[in-house]
Amino acid sequence: MLTALGLSSLSLLSSCSISSSLIGIWIQPGLNDLITINNTWFSLKGICLNGQQDIKYKYIYYNEQTRCKRCILFIPRHLNALQYRESECFDADDDNSRICGSITPDTVLYTLFRDNAESISCPFDQSWYFKKNRQISSSCQPKAFHNCLSINTFQILYNNRCQSHKDIIAICFAQFSDGNMNYIISRSLNQQRFICFSYTKTKINEKNLLPNEVYLSEDETCRSLLTRESALILNILPNKYYESKVHMPDWTQGIWSSIGIDRIDANTFYINQSQLIMKMHDDQIIKYDLKFLRIIQYQQQQQHEKSIHIRAKSLEQCSSIFYCIKLIYRSSAVIDLSIGFDEHQCKESHIHYTLFKPMTKSNISCPQIGIYKSLNSYQSSLSISTCSTGRWTLSIGCQITNSNELTLTSSCRHDIVPDVHIITSIKGICLASWRTDHRFQRTIILYDKTKAFCLIQPLKSMTASWILSENSCTHTGLLSINVENSLHYLDNCQENNHLLLLSSSSSSNIYLLQRVFYLLFYLTMKVLIYVNVMT
Ligand SMILES: *[C@@H]1O[C@H](CO)[C@@H](O)[C@H](O)[C@H]1NC(C)=O
Ligand SMILES: *[C@@H]1O[C@H](CO)[C@@H](O)[C@H](O)[C@H]1NC(C)=O
Ligand SMILES: *[C@@H]1O[C@H](CO)[C@@H](O)[C@H](O)[C@H]1NC(C)=O
Repeated sequence: MLTALGLSSLSLLSSCSISSSLIGIWIQPGLNDLITINNTWFSLKGICLNGQQDIKYKYIYYNEQTRCKRCILFIPRHLNALQYRESECFDADDDNSRICGSITPDTVLYTLFRDNAESISCPFDQSWYFKKNRQISSSCQPKAFHNCLSINTFQILYNNRCQSHKDIIAICFAQFSDGNMNYIISRSLNQQRFICFSYTKTKINEKNLLPNEVYLSEDETCRSLLTRESALILNILPNKYYESKVHMPDWTQGIWSSIGIDRIDANTFYINQSQLIMKMHDDQIIKYDLKFLRIIQYQQQQQHEKSIHIRAKSLEQCSSIFYCIKLIYRSSAVIDLSIGFDEHQCKESHIHYTLFKPMTKSNISCPQIGIYKSLNSYQSSLSISTCSTGRWTLSIGCQITNSNELTLTSSCRHDIVPDVHIITSIKGICLASWRTDHRFQRTIILYDKTKAFCLIQPLKSMTASWILSENSCTHTGLLSINVENSLHYLDNCQENNHLLLLSSSSSSNIYLLQRVFYLLFYLTMKVLIYVNVMT
């Protein structure tokens, strides 16, 4: 009787109210065509006749071509994943509840994936490593899953017995749980193949959340996941097994800042036993995230020639990028860092930084003690002074008690009121001082508690000093060798005592002095105005 009715009249009969989570265009692995599910229709199953009252997500469909009436039980799993079980093909006049009653937990389960699904983040923090499976040890098998941070992808690494399988990068797009099992659905980037795996919910394992076993579906229908027997079982290795075995010396570790005049360029470096992280712009951007792989060379001769060479891998991208890192000890508060690509056996480095740790005290004596003065035209790269032109004075190590301190003072006439003198000064401490050639002494000076600059002094004669405006004090460009724009050696510390009195005190005193000048200026002007008014 039903068969006699036309398609359009059947639609009218439809009393299905399909849940919106089922509606959409879906992919069923193994089928070429996309599957449509809407309020009245399910591709290949036909028209929806009605929904079953007793169980949510149970619907009766009728396919006119095959003359099949079926009961479908939908199991919504995730916005992007839908599963269903279906009854056998029944006659049109068979009883609906009998048809639906024929679906049991053993009935085949199909999985549909939403077409053009949006990705979700993959469920593991970093990596899962798998034990070798003895039974299939002669064959190709996955050895690890690596999360490719930030782009919802992960990489499946295979052992070297694989020929066709190259390492795969897949994008995650659905995740759901059933009992204590978690299911992840992903799709490979190049072949668009579905890759599904499941794992038992995590047990607490030394702070790291790791499952015991992972079941990887052997085909892309993902059906085999449901029975432990039919999936590929991967046993997880504890993470510590694969943690870096690099032993970094103490002097390399900690939180470091890079020198540089420009605060916009400010970088922070975190170095510990296992990795180096460089963050830019107040910790907003991670520029480098390098995991140490092995030490290439470690020199520990005299105190000032300690250096370490490390091979490292970037964690940011799926495709591993290898780097070489070189660290050189300058003092307990200063190191030089070079990073290069691992292309030419680590012979070339591309970026160089001198790093420092802010310290309140230092036991490093400042080199080349004396007073240095600028010509009037001196352009300071440090923006500590309101003076655009004026005299700059650098007094290095002139305080008898503290030979590790220096003072940089600028003094100039006020732009508008020539009688007013502006003096600013900063007090710094020498954190490290070293030579890498026969030409220059290089010194890192910490000021304002957290900032530092590099002072370069030619070795030949104590002629000059200049402030470098680069990130590295050791690797400097030719342009930064600037004898013209420098502070010239004037004297040893005995002379100029009165100036020192002004400059070596803390900067707050200087501001006070400045204010006294302003006050005097203000009073003078008052008197002048008063006199003007009177006459
Ligand atoms: C459901 O999909 C079918 C096949 O694409 C289409 O003919 C029908 O008009 C759709 N119905 C609704 C209510 O969108
Ligand atoms: C330091 O090492 C631990 C592992 O020992 C790691 O979890 C941590 O993220 C590392 N990195 C930083 C910047 O502290
Ligand atoms: C300076 O102090 C550090 C510890 O803070 C020490 O290791 C180093 O030997 C000292 N250097 C000198 C020259 O005294």
